[in-house]
Amino acid sequence: MYTQEDEKHLYEQAKELLALQDEKNIETVLTGIREVINYADWKYYVQSNPVLADAEYDALFKKLKHLETKFPEFVTNDSPTQRIAAGLSERFPTVAHLVPMLSLDNTYNAEDLQDWDRKCRELAETDELEYCVEPKYDGASISLIYDNGALTRGATRGDGVMGEDVTANIRQIKAIPLSTNLRARGVAQMEIRGEIVIHKNVFEAYNKQRLSEGLSPLANPRNAASGTLRILDPAEVRKRGLNAILYHISDYTLAEGAGRPAELDTHYGSLQWLYSLGYPTPAKEMKLFRHIDEVIAYCHEFEQHRDDLAFEVDGLVIKVNSFAMQDKMGMTSHHPRWAVAYKFKARQGTSKLRRVEFQVGRTGAITPVAKIDPVHIGGVTVTSVSLFNEDVVREKDLRIGDTVLVERAGDVIPYIVKPLSELRSGDEEPIKFPTNCPVCDSLLEKQPEEAAWRCINISCPVQVAERLIHYVSKDAMDIRNLGAANIQKFYDLGLLTDIPSIYSIDWEKVRGLGGFGEKSITNVQQAIEQSKTQPLNRLMFGLGIRFVGETTAKTLANAVAHIRDYFDWSIEQLCTLEDVGPKVATSVADFFSRQENRDMLDKLEASGVNLMNQKKEQQAEGALSGKTFLFTGTLSQFKRADAEAMVEAKGGAILGGVSAKLNYLVVGTDAGSKLEKAKKLGTVNVLNETEFLELMNG
Ligand code: IVH
Repeated sequence: MYTQEDEKHLYEQAKELLALQDEKNIETVLTGIREVINYADWKYYVQSNPVLADAEYDALFKKLKHLETKFPEFVTNDSPTQRIAAGLSERFPTVAHLVPMLSLDNTYNAEDLQDWDRKCRELAETDELEYCVEPKYDGASISLIYDNGALTRGATRGDGVMGEDVTANIRQIKAIPLSTNLRARGVAQMEIRGEIVIHKNVFEAYNKQRLSEGLSPLANPRNAASGTLRILDPAEVRKRGLNAILYHISDYTLAEGAGRPAELDTHYGSLQWLYSLGYPTPAKEMKLFRHIDEVIAYCHEFEQHRDDLAFEVDGLVIKVNSFAMQDKMGMTSHHPRWAVAYKFKARQGTSKLRRVEFQVGRTGAITPVAKIDPVHIGGVTVTSVSLFNEDVVREKDLRIGDTVLVERAGDVIPYIVKPLSELRSGDEEPIKFPTNCPVCDSLLEKQPEEAAWRCINISCPVQVAERLIHYVSKDAMDIRNLGAANIQKFYDLGLLTDIPSIYSIDWEKVRGLGGFGEKSITNVQQAIEQSKTQPLNRLMFGLGIRFVGETTAKTLANAVAHIRDYFDWSIEQLCTLEDVGPKVATSVADFFSRQENRDMLDKLEASGVNLMNQKKEQQAEGALSGKTFLFTGTLSQFKRADAEAMVEAKGGAILGGVSAKLNYLVVGTDAGSKLEKAKKLGTVNVLNETEFLELMNG
């Protein structure tokens, strides 16, 4: 796809475009930026080897958007900006695949593979077969159509003959090129098959986010991928960070008079060829073998390392390499005879659901946990499986006594896929949810829009201990050595009662307990002391305010000079902050309105814990002292970070959102809701970029 020469050139082009001040020849500049962005996407998503810093990429993307808004006549359908679709209709239209999407026959051991190899040789009437082996990706299968090199349709598998047209969502996946050079290679139309996948780390981060928002996590990367493809909001699809691997050309038509590219003689050649055109194929993962014993050895070796891969794989696929041979061997109505899947050991097992326990979390949410007979899955014995919340239990129609299918994918926590209802005897019992907290017996409550029942007694012992554990955790105040077990012990003994009590632990009593060396006590004391100077965002996160994850904690900490500023903030004001919606705002406002929380902050401050945003504290005294600024929209005359630094150097402050405290809103192009809000408030001075520079200079 890109020669070394091209790469060097594109990299330099990127730098030039980033430095470019005036854009005289708009069309050339636009083409240049698009080339660079496509190249950067390919490096990032297909090669996993980024060439541009995130900020550089964003700057180019913004420039492209800005210029295209200014000169709409130059917008092209394959511009990277056009991945952002207008939206999908209520339902996805059903479309016919050019060639039915078949499944694969499965093998599970060496013997199965030897049988398959024997059949292949019989059908091919030769002993000279070559096999191509590649990973079997565990995601959602898709079928793409490229007409004259442009992506014109993306569809789900559906029933194999008809699928759902999810083109708008497919266009959000940056690994999938919107256009390629297929036409120049003599191909008028091509249908390409592949799998939509989610990186395991992207999946984990997404689930962490969901949990912090009080939502139940998605079961596994496969479900996440296929569910995301069917979301009706392409902007949301974009956020989920899907990836793709294409592994099969199912159909193609050559342009009139064009000869067939020689690479299209073999499966291996065709995927290398697609890769060279910019498609994400397993080009680097494919292996060729001439003998089935080599294939078997490779399968065994590969299985040992399945967890090292960025994606979930559930096996390997072995394909006859020559297309001429494939045609000769043909297919059944269900699967091709020239390909087979070698499935890795199941990460599923069945077990009996014996009872359900109800656990109380830090925020009081009650989590049902299924206790099952021990079952070995992927080298681990599973006896306990979270059911997340009541809705999950009801949706799956789980009952005590059910035989259940349990899955454990990679490092993902085990979960119950479904009950095997066909095995029911009739003696199964429904799962009863408690009405009172299993720990403190308070009446449980449930908000209409929430899935979880909650114990709202903030002194509920389990909640207090869990809050303490969260406060000292690595991503919060990072008080090492005061781990969960010690906290529980100290709490049970009354040495810890609430968060501020961490700073007044009676160490004499701890010494009296025995089991603590002088050295370990000193270490904990030092860690506690050090935590007093942690930045405000860590404290904000550590306080365990509902729906406030690490990112929101940063936003909140950056927007004020002292945590007490939030005592006066209204829900409306909070909503002006980046990514803070009514749900988060209500929770934050509620937290700071409670007297017990205000008292807690007083106590923390008295112990010397930092409650200030140091960055705002250290603001220079200058011409803009006491003045607040906010930048919005696409800025073209200067970089946002530079402008913010200029403001701060003159003693001004940057706010996170539009509020009554904002003095100046500096707007670039495409300024949206912030400008609206500022206008509504009527107290904010709105400046364009030139006016801002004038203010700075004089
Ligand atoms: S080839 C006609 N190759 O596995 C041949 N399939 O269990 C079509 N899959 O429906 C399939 N990785 O969704 C092929 N490297 C790979 C694959 C792969 C995953 C999926 C595909 C297929 C399913 C069958």
